[in-house]
Amino acid sequence: MLTILVLLSLAYGLDGADVVLSCSLIEEGGGMGMGMGGMMGGSTFKRTPSTLVFRDLVGNDDLSPELVTPYNPPETPNADDLIFELMLSSVQIPNADSLLHADCNEQEVFCEISSYVPHGADPESAPAHFIGSVQLGGGGLSLTLVLQTLSSNTVESDTPPLLQSKLKLPLSQSGTLMTEVVFVVFSRVPSMMAPIGSDVVLDCGFRQKDSIHGQDVALEWRLQYRGNGHKILEMKARATETEVGSDVLVKQEGTSAEADLLVRDGNASLTLRRLKVTDEGTYICTVGSGEFQTQQVVQLHIKQPPRVTLSEDKLIFQDETPQKLSCHCHRYYPLDVQVEWLSQLASAEEPVSFSKESSLSSHRQHSDGTYSLSSYLILRPDEHPPGTVVTCRVSHTALETHRDASLTVDRLEPKTAFWTIVLMLAISLVFLYQAFKSVAEVQSSEGM
Ligand SMILES: *[C@@H]1O[C@H](CO)[C@@H](O)[C@H](O)[C@H]1NC(C)=O
Repeated sequence: MLTILVLLSLAYGLDGADVVLSCSLIEEGGGMGMGMGGMMGGSTFKRTPSTLVFRDLVGNDDLSPELVTPYNPPETPNADDLIFELMLSSVQIPNADSLLHADCNEQEVFCEISSYVPHGADPESAPAHFIGSVQLGGGGLSLTLVLQTLSSNTVESDTPPLLQSKLKLPLSQSGTLMTEVVFVVFSRVPSMMAPIGSDVVLDCGFRQKDSIHGQDVALEWRLQYRGNGHKILEMKARATETEVGSDVLVKQEGTSAEADLLVRDGNASLTLRRLKVTDEGTYICTVGSGEFQTQQVVQLHIKQPPRVTLSEDKLIFQDETPQKLSCHCHRYYPLDVQVEWLSQLASAEEPVSFSKESSLSSHRQHSDGTYSLSSYLILRPDEHPPGTVVTCRVSHTALETHRDASLTVDRLEPKTAFWTIVLMLAISLVFLYQAFKSVAEVQSSEGM
């Protein structure tokens, strides 16, 4: 009996891993603050510091106890405090444990809250709704949460609950705004890069508290690029008892999303095939289900590393005439590329930069959107004696470090040939002499 109790409290303690994020409440300046993402241009926004507390964020099974940091609300509730307490009981957020790790690794987290009105709802009526945007720094998990206020019906007290001074919503006994996550659209990979010609899956998914069987799920993917946007894919899917029905309203060539995955797993990912430079941009995944609709942004960067070649395989100075060497960077994307020239004498420990003496061609753009560029260097024989290694070093965002193309300055051929012949002759002579000697010895011994 006692053991069971201990085990239970331990399990409870593990599940009770809370994550506390500092957030901003965004309101449209002066207005009612009904904007969805708070991204409308032109209008002014007011930011108020607030706190977001994820209660019972269930992480991995291997969640270690030191990660569990229960949140302690302020001693005395304050009407000016803006603490959103999030109950996740009914919606499971995939990879939510990464939030937990971010919390203790002090990884940067971007967090914003704004008011939200569900489709067809009366903005004045209870419960109130909010949108919470949470993004982990460094391209981790990104969440757009729809929060719904919970009425605190647990306490039956004569004194009316404290009202939050700004939102005029009742606070819990511990001074927090109790909310429940009712809908979430997320991406576990909100920023990705891929080379031309590859296939990618842009990660987007949703979870919902009450999903009604047979309810439509609407999915839309848009691509924004430098101010222009267009619809890539639009579909409506619905699961009946036996099958999944879907209407695809818009579908750009080479793209696809699975109606099955959408309604059964909440998987709204978009597949893009044979990537082109023009596929680069900001993708917006919008999922609507029931009265809720919200979005998630996924950035796609096209990165194609350059192929680097030198104009010559080897370099030999015939006389004192300087020679020109070119380094070609082929078909890379995006535009920025750096070319450095290095020269290292056979005896030297470190290479010397010759970049200042080089010149660049202009960028050439190919029909597939990639670029090419050449760099030229004039080499003088006195500076680059035989044995010197000349390197063209190219740096580009698609390369982890850099890419090198090198050659070694050779000795002038005729000389090499002459000395080789002399050496070969000498060896042959010694060999012939030895052979004669032994033959003569054999003959003389036979003669005896
Ligand atoms: C969606 O399904 C694809 C393909 O099965 C998978 O790679 C991806 O991780 C899934 N994404 C989500 C958000 O479930």
